[in-house]
This record gives sequence, C-alpha cells and structure tokens, in this order.
Amino acid sequence: MDRIRIVGGNELKGVIPISGAKNAALPLMIASLLTSDTLTLENVPHLADVELLLRILGNHGVDVSVNGRREHQDGSYARTIHFTCRTVADTTAPYELVSKMRASFWVIGPLLAREGKARVSLPGGCAIGTRPVDLFIEGLQALGAEMEIDGGYINATAPKGGLIGATYNFPKVSVGATHVMMMAASLARGTTVIGNAAREPEVVDLANCLNAMGAKISGAGTSTITIEGVPSLSGARHRVLPDRIETGTYAMAVAMTGGDVTLQGTDASLLDTALEAIRRAGAEVTETPGGIRVVGYGSEIRPVDIVTEPFPGFPTDLQAQFMGLMTRANGVSHVTETIFENRFMHVQELARLGAKITLSGQTARIEGTRRLRGAPVMATDLRASVSLVIAGLAAEGETMVSRVYHLDRGFERLEEKLTRCGAVVERISD
Ligand code: EPZ
Repeated sequence: MDRIRIVGGNELKGVIPISGAKNAALPLMIASLLTSDTLTLENVPHLADVELLLRILGNHGVDVSVNGRREHQDGSYARTIHFTCRTVADTTAPYELVSKMRASFWVIGPLLAREGKARVSLPGGCAIGTRPVDLFIEGLQALGAEMEIDGGYINATAPKGGLIGATYNFPKVSVGATHVMMMAASLARGTTVIGNAAREPEVVDLANCLNAMGAKISGAGTSTITIEGVPSLSGARHRVLPDRIETGTYAMAVAMTGGDVTLQGTDASLLDTALEAIRRAGAEVTETPGGIRVVGYGSEIRPVDIVTEPFPGFPTDLQAQFMGLMTRANGVSHVTETIFENRFMHVQELARLGAKITLSGQTARIEGTRRLRGAPVMATDLRASVSLVIAGLAAEGETMVSRVYHLDRGFERLEEKLTRCGAVVERISD
C-alpha cells in the first residue's frame, strides 16, 4: 500500500494548476445514461473515483472513449472523455460497485427516467456518517415512482408512460438528491419544482450540461429549481468546472506553510466563504486573470471560527483542512460540523503531530500551537487525509501518511503539484 512521506518546513512558491472538480465530474458522467447520443466531457480529472465510475457505467452499457490526455507546459493535463449509451445494457447497480463509492447510487435517477426501472444497491454506511437515502426515495416517489426495498436493494419502477412532474420540497438540503431529481425530472412528463434544492456550483454545472443536452432547467444555483420535462435528451459537449475543494485545500496549505502560490485555472467565486475565512486567518488572497494568488505568512496565523453549511456556507469538504490550518493559529478557534455527524476522524491524527484539539459534540476547540512535529499518521477519508498532508508540510521533520488510496480518490497528482512548489513530498510504493 502506498504511503506519502513529507518533510515539512518549506514555504510553497509557484503555480498549482487546479483540476476539474471530482464532485462535478461524477454526476456529469452519470448524466450520459440519459441519452443514446454521445456526451463529451472536457477537463475530467484523473482520479480513482472517476476510474471506478467509468467501470460502473460500462456495466450499464456506456461505451467510453478517452482521448486528448493533454500535457500542458505548466504540467497540468485534462482529459476529454466521450460517453455513449446507445442502449442500457443493465438496469441493476450491484452492491460490489455501489458500496465502493456512494455517488454511484445516483444512477438510479437516469436509469429510472430512461428505462422505467432500476435496481440499485443501498450504499451502506460510510466513514463520515450514516448517510441515508430517504430523500432520494421520497423525491422519486413524488415523481410517481414505486420504491421498494428488497434484500439490500432499492427496486424503483416508474408509472406506465414514465415519471410525472411534481412539486417536491426537500426537508433537508442534499447535493446528491438534487442531482438525481434534476436528472430524473428532465425526462418526466410535465413540470417539476424542487424546493430547498442544493445550491452547490456542481448542481449548476450539471444543470448547464443537462440544458446543453436539451433539458429545460431553470433556477439552478437558487433554492428553487424548475424542470420542464422533455421526451428525450441529445448529446452535448461540456467542460467540467474547476475543483473548489482542491483550490481551497492548496490555499490553506499556503496560508499554513507561508509562501506565494498562484492557483491556476480556478475561480474565486466558487469558494467565497472559504477564501474569506483564509483571509481572516491572515493570508492575502487575490483574484488573478484565470486564478487566485495566495500569499501566506506561516507563523502569523489568526484564529477563526467556522461552521460548515450547505453552499454558499463554509464547505464540509474543507473542514478538516481548515482545522489543520487552525492548529498553528495564535490562539483558540472553533470548528463546528453540521453536515455529517462523524467527520472528525482527523482530530486524533492531527493530535499525533502535536495539535491540541478537544471535541464537544459537533464542535472542535483548537488551541493553536507554534510547533507541529512530524509523525506517522493514517489517512481515514479523502478530506481528512489531505488535512494531514498540509499539516505535515507545516510540521518540523518527517510525516509519513499511510493509506493514501483515500487521497487518490480526490486529489490529482498531489505530490507532483506540491513538489513543483518546493515542498518535499514523495510517494513510497511498498
Ligand atoms: C456530496 O455528497 C459530496 N459528494 C460530498 O463530498 C460532500 O461532502 C457533500 O455533498 C456535502 O457537500 C459528491 O458530490 C460526490 P448530501 P452527498 O446528500 O451528495 C444527509 C467528498 O469528500 N442525507 O448533500 O452524498 C446526509 O447524510 C465528498 O468529496 C440524508 O439525510 O451529500 C448528510 O448529512 C464526501 N438523506 C446531508 O444530508 C438522504 O437521502 C448532506 O448530504 C441524503 C442525504
């Protein structure tokens, strides 16, 4: 199993190209199930989750052709992938695949809308919380589907003639359930209005792509999304938006180690709240043409309290990294997690580097310390593991992060991007 060795203490200086967003690429890829034409996605990141979803889609009959892995001079590369699902080969998404990645459950929307039926394994528990699927079930039931749980699977069946547009208000904001409702309602008869919809940029990206495919969606990015159903969707070409979580992660790394880095190919408006928190912590964050420049001062970090919230609030996917930053602040800060009930597994590992964190319910109290010291630590989930990497960059001496397959799910060429900016980071394959 690969490990990552970090020798901390260097400032970061240079340019980091930001990849296409994992959490936009996944639903966009799943949207290819809605049409028999070719959907072409540009700027698809090369990540373990993307590769797994390619396999899952292949199982449903999606023909995939990857081309144009373009190596740019700045070291970035982005793939263009063509997806064609002439006919759906299988409407079952098996446990072996769905249990590996929760987002693969989302195939339920397009399969049900296009084929009138889907049998999809329940995703099961997950390291960061229980993550139920009740909102998907209720939402699709509102469109007329029959939803039955049988042997760990959901059997979903559309009424004769297809799903029927309806008004449905989510009792809780869910990114995945919003994606699924938009995809399913695009092929429903009549108009669907989704209330309390997720407003994340990835929802807007999916809506834009679906509209390019012929869907009639308005209001994405607000809490109310209206979808006028159409009989069929066509192919389209769409560029995956930049990864705001990768952007925020590297911005926090620079704020923590000190240095001067331009994050290229990203957009500050995707993560205003997180950038504001980084500014309050003392780093300079400015927009540049085509990116963001971050100047950090390392030892002069101010304590800042944050609370995770659905977009446009502070993203839960940056909570662990921000806590890493706060471990070196000049004072006490508080980090409150409101989205997932068990997303504090990085606390114990950060403590191994010398961080002083106490947990009380959903709030962590962090007493900043000037010195973190390198240690062996273990990655527990995707965002938790990258918080250990950035803390390791700011720690004295060597940090060895094991179980880095978690990182490979969501960070493209992390070691390379950091090394180019002067960090000492290497992958050790045993
Ligand atoms: C998406 O997950 C992201 N994943 C997550 O990123 C992200 O943390 C999360 O949104 C919140 O922003 C992808 O986009 C692939 P939710 P999702 O449904 O859609 C509860 C990462 O690290 N809920 O918005 O699965 C749920 O338990 C990942 O890249 C229900 O109660 O999240 C949670 O408490 C991790 N019932 C809350 O809603 C349901 O039926 C928000 O979850 C569905 C969700």
